[in-house]
Order: sequence, then structure tokens, then C-alpha cells
Amino acid sequence: MSSEQYSLKICCMGAGYVGGPTMAVIAAKCPHIKVTVVDISVKQIAAWNSSSLPIYEPGLQELVESVRGKNLFFSTEVDATIAEADIVFVSVNTPTKTAGIGKGFASNIKNVELCARKIAEVSTAGKIIVEKSTVPVRTADSIKRVLKSASPYEFQVLSNPEFLAEGTAVNDLLFPSRVLIGGEQTPGGLKAIDTLVQVYANWVAAPQIITTNLWSSELSKLVANAMLAQRVSSINSITALCERTDADVDEIARAIGADPRIGSKFLKASVGYGGSCFQKDILNLVYICESFGLKECADYWNQVVLMNEYQKKRFAMNMVKTMFNTVTSKKIAIFGFAFKKDTGDTRETAAAFVMKDLLDEQAILHVYDPQVTREQMMLEFQYTLNVTEETTPGLNRLIITCDSVLEAARGAHAIAVMTEWDEFTSCDYKALYDIMEKPAFFFDGRNVAPHAQLREIGFEVYAIGKPQDKLF
Ligand code: UDX
Ligand code: UDX
Repeated sequence: MSSEQYSLKICCMGAGYVGGPTMAVIAAKCPHIKVTVVDISVKQIAAWNSSSLPIYEPGLQELVESVRGKNLFFSTEVDATIAEADIVFVSVNTPTKTAGIGKGFASNIKNVELCARKIAEVSTAGKIIVEKSTVPVRTADSIKRVLKSASPYEFQVLSNPEFLAEGTAVNDLLFPSRVLIGGEQTPGGLKAIDTLVQVYANWVAAPQIITTNLWSSELSKLVANAMLAQRVSSINSITALCERTDADVDEIARAIGADPRIGSKFLKASVGYGGSCFQKDILNLVYICESFGLKECADYWNQVVLMNEYQKKRFAMNMVKTMFNTVTSKKIAIFGFAFKKDTGDTRETAAAFVMKDLLDEQAILHVYDPQVTREQMMLEFQYTLNVTEETTPGLNRLIITCDSVLEAARGAHAIAVMTEWDEFTSCDYKALYDIMEKPAFFFDGRNVAPHAQLREIGFEVYAIGKPQDKLF
């Protein structure tokens, strides 16, 4: 199709976990729309144009290959792509601030503001700007003011938060539970909302497209993630109690989840939630509540974060305590490093926190994850925990990355499951047991391994929220 034949041109700023997959699905479902994803990172764009995409998502490679070069393009030509677009999605990262006002809580919207300035600078006509990045409520105000002060053209700002979960991104985008679009309730705002509704209407049924005012949409994203994280923290708060009382947290989840008012999803106990969104969005919600003087509301949500921290710490401390109060120089096999299965994403992964506590005890960690490279793991340690060879002398000696479970388990005193990768449900655990030191400990932070079988083999098993072995 020549450029003039497209009915609409979309530019997406930010070719990350959200921008890439979202635009691939829009392109696949709307052959008449030209979709171009731009990024300031040349490396990122080169990877999207290669046979090895920068992120791993089931089904993504095939999807991208089916439309790339037809109506989906990845480019570093930021200015020209913005200039020709009717709609510009802003999908850049908005990490928690590491300095200044709101440090440790507030989201840094610097990148979003930079995008707004760039749009104002290069536009030669009005456009619809779509906030895809998760932002603090009322960010659209800032975007509008930047655009208005720097450009003579009319811009409409919409909020269209993304609810996809990593590992299931393609499926979530193809079959979304809902699409949320917020905009100004003015004739111009409503027209812009309708334009974006028409894009999604190519594959999403009308009742699933929810339209609201701008602020409800922005805040809904934070609330959705806070409520999801709260469920995980709620069930995790019960695990410690289960371990003391011989109740089984999975049985409890089943029993309470059968009540439709509670629902069965998101009740899987774990070593703690991770990911780029939960922690960041709750902290942001806490910060917003505080900035409006709503201390009780802020404290309430902050408790979700504190419970998650407790869960990670509790897991690591239990490991040390169980292994005769010392793991110094003991080899421990870490199964999984990603924050959940089916993704190579490591942001805020619970595994890093647990490993940090074990490193402080001078344990030697043999890590196996099918999707995470050593380089990525080390970046995560540095970025989230400030753990580097300088801050933690011996780090490169204490962390050994392995290519298989067998390699990781060889000579280890314990196995700790950090990510629920399917292969950990069905390993040849007898073979692993045979090559480990004895007693061979097994710590399941995801409750995915066959515990009864493990005990039969000879492992001493500790599992989150499960009746404990009486051996220790
Ligand atoms: C998304 C959302 O946009 C974010 O708000 C949410 O909280 C987490 O998920 P994500 O796609 O995961 O972000 O971020 P990331 O994978 O880091 O991708 C962002 C991309 O934007 C990077 O490739 C980065 O190079 C690019 N970027 C950043 C720009 O192109 N311009 C900038 O000014 C900043
Ligand atoms: C989340 C939201 O689900 C998604 O809607 C939003 O757009 C982005 O944030 P994501 O972080 O990709 O998605 O993954 P999610 O499946 O929500 O898992 C988050 C964390 O919670 C993971 O570490 C996961 O292992 C953990 N979790 C989830 C549990 O420990 N137990 C559960 O029952 C569910």
C-alpha cells in the first residue's frame, strides 16, 4: 500500500514491552492503518527489525513477522514519523523517581514530557495524543499545557491505559477484557475518543470499549494494578499462618475462590509479586494520596507493598534458618529469575531480593532461567538493588549462571524455585537429587513442583503456605 492509501497513520513513541506488542496487534487487525513504532534507542529498533525481537512473548515473533514491512514499521526517524501521524501513542517508561521530591514513590514523567515537547516541535498539524504509559492522575493536563505553549495547532489528549500482562501480552491484546479510553468531555474530546474507538472496533466488541473522562481513565490504571497486587499480598499474608497451622494455602484459595464475589483468579501464593507495574503504580498511588493529605488512604495501600517485602524477606530467612542457620559457601540452585513465567522480564523480580539476602550470607548461587541472560540479571541487580561487584565484592564469583537445571543442581545443597516456569513442574527430580549434597533441601516459592514425589525421593521440602516437613 502506498503511503497515501492508508486511512490513518499511527506513530507510537516507545518500542518497549507495551509499545511493541500493542502496535503489532493494531497493525495486524487494521491493515488499512499504517503503524510506525519509534524509539530513541537505535539498538531497540534494530532488534525489532531483526529475527530476534528485544522482548520474549509467546506468539509475538510470528505476529510481528506477519505485518512488519507491510503496515507495521520500526524506525528511529522520530520527527518525520510524528509529523505524518494522525494519532501519536506515548508509550515510554515512567519509572519511580530515584531522587528529588517524591523520591522512591512518585513516578517520573520526564520521558512523557519530553515526548510532548518533541510532538509540539515537529508537528505541522493538530493530532490526537494517546497516553499509553501509566501516569499519575492529571498528567494529561501537563501534556496539554506543554503542547499548547509550544505549538499553534489543536491537540486532543486521550488516556488509553494498557492492561496486558507480560507472558500473555499477545492474547490479552487480541482478546482484551476491556479497552479503556478517557478523554475530555467536549465536542473535540468526544470526537477524538470516537476516532480511537473506531481503531479498536476493528476487533473489540463495542460493549468492551469503555469510555470515561480523562481523569477516571488515568486513575483506573493505578487502581486496577493496586487491587491486583493487593490480592497477591492478601493471599501471601495468609501463607505464614498456614505454615504454622498445617493449613494449605492452595486449598484455601480454592475454597474462597469458589465464592463468585471473591473469584478464583490472582490467588496464587508466591514468594512475592514483581514486574514493572505493581510496585511502581502502588507507590505512585500512595504518593498521590499523600499529596492530597489523605494519609489513611496512603497508609492502606502502602501496606500492600510492605507485605510483599515481608514475603520476600521471609522466604530468604526461612531458607537460611532451615539450612542449619548458615548458607555460607553453600551452593544453592536458583530455578528461575524472571518475575513470572513466559517472559524474560526481570524488573522488580522477587528472585533478585531473595538472592541478595543469600549473597549477604555468602551463599554461592547457581541460577538457571530459560529466558534471562546473565547480562540482564546483573543489570537488574544493579538497577533495583544497587548490587554490583563494587558494592558486593565477589558478586561475579558468587553468582554462576547455568544452562540447565541439571547444571544448576550439581553439588547444590538446595534448590529454590523462584519462577513458575512449566519445566519446573516436571523435571527429572530423581536425577537432580542424585547429584546434590545431602540433606537435599527444596524451597518452592511458587508451589509448582510435585512435593509428594519430592519427599518420596528424599528431598526435605519447604513450600509457601503448605504444611511443613516435620524434619525441621
Ligand atoms: C510500559 C508503560 O509505558 C509504562 O508506563 C508502564 O509503567 C510499564 O510498561 P514499557 O513498555 O514496559 O513501559 O517500558 P520499556 O520496555 O522500558 O520501553 C520504553 C521504551 O521507550 C524504551 O525502549 C525506551 O528506549 C523508549 N523511550 C524512552 C523513548 O523512545 N523515548 C524516551 O524519551 C524515553
Ligand atoms: C500487571 C497487570 O496484570 C496488567 O494488567 C498490567 O497492565 C501490568 O501489570 P504483569 O506485571 O505483566 O501485569 O503480570 P501479572 O500477571 O499481573 O503478575 C504480576 C506479579 O504478581 C508476578 O510477579 C506474578 O508472579 C505475581 N502473581 C500474580 C502472584 O504472585 N500470584 C498471583 O496469583 C498472580
